Amino acid sequence: MKKILITGVAGFIGSNLAHALLDKGYQIVGVDNMSQGEKLNLEPLIKNPNFEMHYIDIRDEAALTKASVGCKTLVHLAAYKIPRYTDALDTLLINSLGSENVLKAAIDQGAKVVAASTSDVYGKNPDVPFNENSNLVIGNPDVKRWAYAISKMFEEQMMFAYQQRYGIPVVALRFFGGYGPNQNLTWWGGPQSVFINKALDNEEIEVHGDGSQTRSFTFISDHVNGIIRTIEQDAANNLVFNLGNTREISITGLAQLIWRLVRGDDSTQKIKLIPYETFGKYEDVMRRIPDITRARTLLGFEPEVDLEDGLRRTIIWQIERRRQLGIPTPFIPSWVEQN
Ligand SMILES: NC(=O)c1ccc[n+]([C@@H]2O[C@H](COP(=O)([O-])OP(=O)(O)OC[C@H]3O[C@@H](n4cnc5c(N)ncnc54)[C@H](O)[C@@H]3O)[C@@H](O)[C@H]2O)c1
Repeated sequence: MKKILITGVAGFIGSNLAHALLDKGYQIVGVDNMSQGEKLNLEPLIKNPNFEMHYIDIRDEAALTKASVGCKTLVHLAAYKIPRYTDALDTLLINSLGSENVLKAAIDQGAKVVAASTSDVYGKNPDVPFNENSNLVIGNPDVKRWAYAISKMFEEQMMFAYQQRYGIPVVALRFFGGYGPNQNLTWWGGPQSVFINKALDNEEIEVHGDGSQTRSFTFISDHVNGIIRTIEQDAANNLVFNLGNTREISITGLAQLIWRLVRGDDSTQKIKLIPYETFGKYEDVMRRIPDITRARTLLGFEPEVDLEDGLRRTIIWQIERRRQLGIPTPFIPSWVEQN
């Protein structure tokens, strides 16, 4: 049985990927230091005899090398995402040093590395949709958010440098706006979880800027499907892939849709715009849409879950997760009760 190591396995994408790979008959070695991971995401995995957990930090090279023994693929998802919630230094060091340790471990095992990059690397490039050869346009160094994109750009470059020197196959995945079950319930998990909680609690949804900035949101099963294709297909080797849904929606549009799905009425009174200046020095990305021709053509990847359907599944999951966490949900949409 093929053994695959997943770093960041207690997080959103990692836990969903581990489930899907266990269902396909793989043996999984999970790595996480639980800094942002959720115990509830791990509980069902730990019960599976084909799952082995290592509570280690990816910056600990010796521990990571030991955990990787016998693994022919290392899927590297552990990272720090939003610098304004922690420290830009954590983001830069974890995403660079930690990633290098994964590459070193892969050399020892002769393993393939499939690692998460991000759509944020396209930064301020105004020319949407982005294909993998589009320019990566980063803003001012005194704006903390760019530490994340820069750390992932460095990681991508390092992967290809390791590939060239040591011959290990590598794949870099630029995910676009994932959401769904097991997502973090704070902004760390993205806008969906925060907006769903606000709607369930009948509180104002805070939208940053004027809300016209757009994103493309991808349901987790589509991301997982794409990752598995890059693990299993040699055609993915030594390439960067955009993985995402191509539907574009503004953040205000997302807030309105979530409000309507949860409360069944108009959200006009419930959306509050928060000026960017509130975050100190900040720059946002105004439009973000992937061109997924490469993943479609080489891997047969096609996103299948539309936004309304994915949000409904996420709302059902989030009500259950709140129950597990002891958070009461006084208002449950009637369509959820019927499910
Ligand atoms: N979720 C998305 O839509 C999205 C979009 C773009 C890129 N990504 C990338 O995909 C990957 C997974 O994202 P996610 O949303 O699942 O994030 P997540 O924060 O839910 O999961 C990351 C996991 O990594 C763990 N971790 C962090 N630092 C660690 C360290 N030093 N040692 C060991 N474990 C550590 C955390 O505890 C957490 O469980 C990340 O690399 C992220 O940058 C995600």
